[in-house]
Amino acid sequence: MPSRRHFIQRGAALLGLAAAAPWLPRGAFAQDPGQLLQRAIPGSGELLPVIGLGTSRTFDVRLNEANLAPLEEVMRTFINGGARLLDSAPSYGNAEAVSGELLRRTGTQGKAFLASKVSAHGRERGLAQFEASLRALQSDQLDLLQVHNLQDTRSQLALLRELKEQGRLRYIGITHYREAAHDELLAVLAKEPVDFVQFNYSVAERNAEKRLLPYCADHGIATLINRPFLRGQLFARVAGKPLPDWALEVDASSWAQLLLKFILAHPAVTVAIPATSKARYMADNLKAGHGRLPDAALRERIVRAFG
Ligand SMILES: NC(=O)c1ccc[n+]([C@@H]2O[C@H](COP(=O)([O-])OP(=O)(O)OC[C@H]3O[C@@H](n4cnc5c(N)ncnc54)[C@H](OP(=O)(O)O)[C@@H]3O)[C@@H](O)[C@H]2O)c1
Repeated sequence: MPSRRHFIQRGAALLGLAAAAPWLPRGAFAQDPGQLLQRAIPGSGELLPVIGLGTSRTFDVRLNEANLAPLEEVMRTFINGGARLLDSAPSYGNAEAVSGELLRRTGTQGKAFLASKVSAHGRERGLAQFEASLRALQSDQLDLLQVHNLQDTRSQLALLRELKEQGRLRYIGITHYREAAHDELLAVLAKEPVDFVQFNYSVAERNAEKRLLPYCADHGIATLINRPFLRGQLFARVAGKPLPDWALEVDASSWAQLLLKFILAHPAVTVAIPATSKARYMADNLKAGHGRLPDAALRERIVRAFG
């Protein structure tokens, strides 16, 4: 019986040879035609659509009609497009409250996979922050709670485990957004069992390919990819440039889709979480979870196009 590592190694090797989809292991990467690509959370086997939604800055607005109406369209596009994972944090200003309000307005609370973070020192402050997140998100449970930027990691992870045992959370994780912190993430993963790790990875920030992504594949840890567009900065590098003809080889019709497909083609990636305040960008990003994914040669072409 081939091991999971065998599948991942085989997948990584074949990245150099063929389009990604044919070698994806059954179960871990399920796809029905017309459906957004899904990948399994290794620890549970639960499937998640590969495109999620970040909320940093884009959802940090005052809760009034003028601000909420366009974001409601983002949320409808997100859920109607088959996506689920929404990533927020108490430190994103009003983003949790805006997310909760949009889920209520669209009647989609039960459909989303709610991920938030804790960024506090000490158990009591962490617990108070978690309770505030639930109120803001208008939910009595979170799907995933992550220690934000490795702040007070040890005591917050102990709290998260407690909350998970009580059934108030389903999964726990840790996050960071800088390549300089990847070794620290790895050091925590070696000591503390977690379900998810969230970090930065894109054509412009490839450090995670060296150790972090392979480690997660080997140890059955789900990965969330933040800053897939380098906070939007990557679009300036291709401003005014027409999309190359070879984009069609991976069914991409925009630069954003190429950037996301570059990420999704890595077999250890579970979900990418681009942020947007525009429904048309949301629809664009969802398309990256359909059709073919790039092989190694095409991934390098995508990197060079943004070089
Ligand atoms: N430490 C942590 O845990 C941590 C750190 C960083 C990020 N994160 C998470 O990761 C999420 C994503 O990272 P990020 O928000 O820093 O940056 P990002 O997703 O790399 O970039 C977001 C920017 O890209 C633009 N954009 C989105 N889709 C587009 C499209 N199809 N075409 C053109 N432009 C598009 C958006 O513009 P518009 O605003 O005009 O829509 C937005 O300004 C965050 O929101 C957060 O949830 C977590």
